[in-house]
Amino acid sequence: MRTEPERIVVESHQSLPHAAASWIADAIAEAIRQSGTCSLALSGGRTPRAVYGELAAAFRDAPWNKVHIYFGDERAVPPNNADSNYRMARESLLDPVHVPAGNVHRMEGERADLDGAARDYERLLPPALDILLLGIGPDGHTASLFPGEPALDERTRRVMPADSPFPPPRRLTITPLVIAAARRVAVIVDGADKADIVARALEGPRDPHALPVQLALGGVWFLDRGAASKLARVPA
Ligand code: 6PG
Repeated sequence: MRTEPERIVVESHQSLPHAAASWIADAIAEAIRQSGTCSLALSGGRTPRAVYGELAAAFRDAPWNKVHIYFGDERAVPPNNADSNYRMARESLLDPVHVPAGNVHRMEGERADLDGAARDYERLLPPALDILLLGIGPDGHTASLFPGEPALDERTRRVMPADSPFPPPRRLTITPLVIAAARRVAVIVDGADKADIVARALEGPRDPHALPVQLALGGVWFLDRGAASKLARVPA
């Protein structure tokens, strides 16, 4: 990862999904050129659904059979639940582009033993993801790393159970080790309601305990004009 955030500000809310999807498609192609395969970890939430939809529409012919899908976090719900990140990804991307079922590695958020689910997932995750997609919550969380979360101090485990102040309350999440090891990280942020938190994250003091998304400062940040509207330094 780079050490300084690269900011890509797109003109409108409507053009953000295409800009992010193009970057992801290029990154997939590059990873496959380098190693013959690509590991792509998806995020949950409202913003990525549109990005995945655009990937499925505009990049349907990408070599999806060589892409292995992982998740940065999951809610503690069954895979067919409306809150499941896996379900959202399946509906918006994985089914439409026919990613082979054996290439999809979901977090088992439905298990009563979430700690066991986290330990099992850790064994599936490659040492370094080729591409990690992240979002930002209104409190500065990313994946399910919420401010003050014990997983932020983790030095060994790569996946852990976590508590969320937003529903659903129990989650599985990657830890900072996975963000640090990823080869390419993209933070995708949409909307003026994220403008304050984006400005704090990108231009305020560095404190990932208070603003976990700052763990991704080495990545590429895709912002629409609204999300970028409180930045002092906006690229042309
Ligand atoms: C989740 C996430 C989470 C998300 C942000 C932004 O499962 O909720 O992975 O980190 O990316 O909360 O979500 P929105 O795009 O919905 O604002």
